[in-house]
Amino acid sequence: MTSRISLKSAAKINLYLEITGNRPDGYHDLVMVLQSIDLCDRLDIRKIGTDEIQVTCNNPEVPCDRTNLVYKAAALMQSVYPDIGGIEIAIDKQIPMGAGLAGGSSNAAAVLVGIDRLWELGLTQSQLCDFAAQLGSDIPFCVTGGTALATGRGEVLSPLPDLKDLVLVICKPRQIAIATAWAYQTFRSQGLLATSQVKNQNLSSQMVAAIASGGESTAVKLSRFLYNDLERVVLPAYPELHALKNRLLEQECLGAMMSGSGSTIFAIAADLDRAQKIAEAIQTDDIDVWVGKSLVRSIFDV
Ligand code: C5P
Repeated sequence: MTSRISLKSAAKINLYLEITGNRPDGYHDLVMVLQSIDLCDRLDIRKIGTDEIQVTCNNPEVPCDRTNLVYKAAALMQSVYPDIGGIEIAIDKQIPMGAGLAGGSSNAAAVLVGIDRLWELGLTQSQLCDFAAQLGSDIPFCVTGGTALATGRGEVLSPLPDLKDLVLVICKPRQIAIATAWAYQTFRSQGLLATSQVKNQNLSSQMVAAIASGGESTAVKLSRFLYNDLERVVLPAYPELHALKNRLLEQECLGAMMSGSGSTIFAIAADLDRAQKIAEAIQTDDIDVWVGKSLVRSIFDV
């Protein structure tokens, strides 16, 4: 039996995020379209002799204690499968934090997948997703990856046809990190559900239809339906992000939108050349910019 495994875990963007209800448990009912993108962290997972969970990260800003989702994922698996023993996890972090890109969630998904494979537990994807849902709303999607419609709290997934070559410009202001809980709680306390601009418009169905239509113009079609309710909270609170989105829209892009609770704003470009030009126009000392593509999976071998 092997004693180590190296996996890549991909970031995600929200092509669509609509808040459809306030739940009594404090969470929100959502309709989302999620997409894996080729901005990835690397995780080296190793069996160790003791019972400990040891997490290390190349980025000193990442907490490596029990608060890290990676630690929580390993602890959950240890509690269900006590024979597992000790685990060492080294994270090579490329996905920015507080970015709305689910970096931590995707790392946790990789730990679940890695432990299943290292200890040959033989878990199905549905069992892995059940564990994932206990750790966070986005984590089941990070186990499956690709393109999916997510409902419920975000954990109820329906796969959508793969978007193979969506070209993206991902922009993350360095100084702005946003706490997801703050964004949702502010949405609720401002009563924004009652003033929804998209309720009864079937926008999410149109987004899904655009994705399902396939063909070369899919990116053009789906870009018309980009939507994120959390922009209504985050953009007024962070004028720099509003300005960044406007700058992207002034470029030759198909559309631009905030991902998740921010602070990432992404643009969809017609092709890689165009994406590169947009990236050059946007990049400053304060904004990290990546040109990337959609992925059809989220966790894969290095
Ligand atoms: O599930 P997760 O721990 O990733 O969620 C982080 C925070 O985002 C939650 O504490 C909650 O405040 C908010 N959230 C929400 N409704 C969802 C998902 C997340 O209010 N469907």
